[in-house]
Amino acid sequence: MTPKINIDSLQVIYPGRGRNMPVEALAGVSLAIADGELVCVVGPSGCGKTTLLRILADLEQPTTGQAIIAPDESNRPLKGMVFQGAGLFPWMTVAQNVAYGLQLRGVAPRERLTRAQHWITTMGLERFAQSYPAQLSGGMQQRAGLARAFTYDPQVLLMDEPFGALDAQTRLILQATLLDLWEQARKTVVFVTHSIEEALTLGDRVVLMSARPGRILHEVMVPFARPRDPITLRTDPRFSALFAEVWGVLRAEVEHSRTAELEMAP
Ligand SMILES: Nc1ncnc2c1ncn2[C@@H]1O[C@H](COP(=O)(O)OP(=O)(O)OP(=O)(O)O)[C@@H](O)[C@H]1O
Ligand SMILES: [Mg+2]
Repeated sequence: MTPKINIDSLQVIYPGRGRNMPVEALAGVSLAIADGELVCVVGPSGCGKTTLLRILADLEQPTTGQAIIAPDESNRPLKGMVFQGAGLFPWMTVAQNVAYGLQLRGVAPRERLTRAQHWITTMGLERFAQSYPAQLSGGMQQRAGLARAFTYDPQVLLMDEPFGALDAQTRLILQATLLDLWEQARKTVVFVTHSIEEALTLGDRVVLMSARPGRILHEVMVPFARPRDPITLRTDPRFSALFAEVWGVLRAEVEHSRTAELEMAP
């Protein structure tokens, strides 16, 4: 079967400017992601996770190699991105923000409203549809950001630490929410996170990257049945075993790169 996303020997070097040396962000990343798969990417800070998503979003060009998203027959947009912080327009209401992507796509106002309403309600934000982002808490803003992404309905959703800035409780609740949304839509998702727990909670597969330049170090298939509940999952002994496996590899990598940095220091 053709993968939905095919990343092949991807290398990204940011050119140096002035006295800054060129930076190799990714070195030979290859990864195939199936249609409808939710893949979580974990790796040390600065290892090129955002770069990988920006390549997939066409915001950056590879130096060598390629990353291809195979379009389906529908007229749905190919990809949509959700960043850390909801990125809502402060001058638009929640409803306007959520429907904005459909407006860009030229969807008629009535249909825009119906579709936006569905995801606003799913997110429990119906009472805030006419509020402005500044009137919402951080968690509610992030929920509005999710409603916007699912209303836009891209074939592939690229998520860059979308819950990174939230407190632990809100984060757990939003993980459960994302799991619900994903059950409804079964989209292909690439989800970047620093949290191994979050990756194991959400992903079908967890891909672990090395310190910069990012390569793929390790992969685990996540065995938990869906629908999943983030709290129950944490009591499953397989959860702690997988956590230990991923953390073991990540810790060795972080320590190794620290030592290398210290040795290079003048
Ligand atoms: N536009 C750019 N120009 C030059 N270097 C860049 C640029 N964007 C990123 N980098 C460098 O490339 C490397 C990878 O950055 P990237 O943002 O992809 O990492 P990351 O894994 O997302 O990090 P974090 O976990 O902190 O978000 C870093 O060393 C960063 O400084
Ligand atoms: Mg990043």
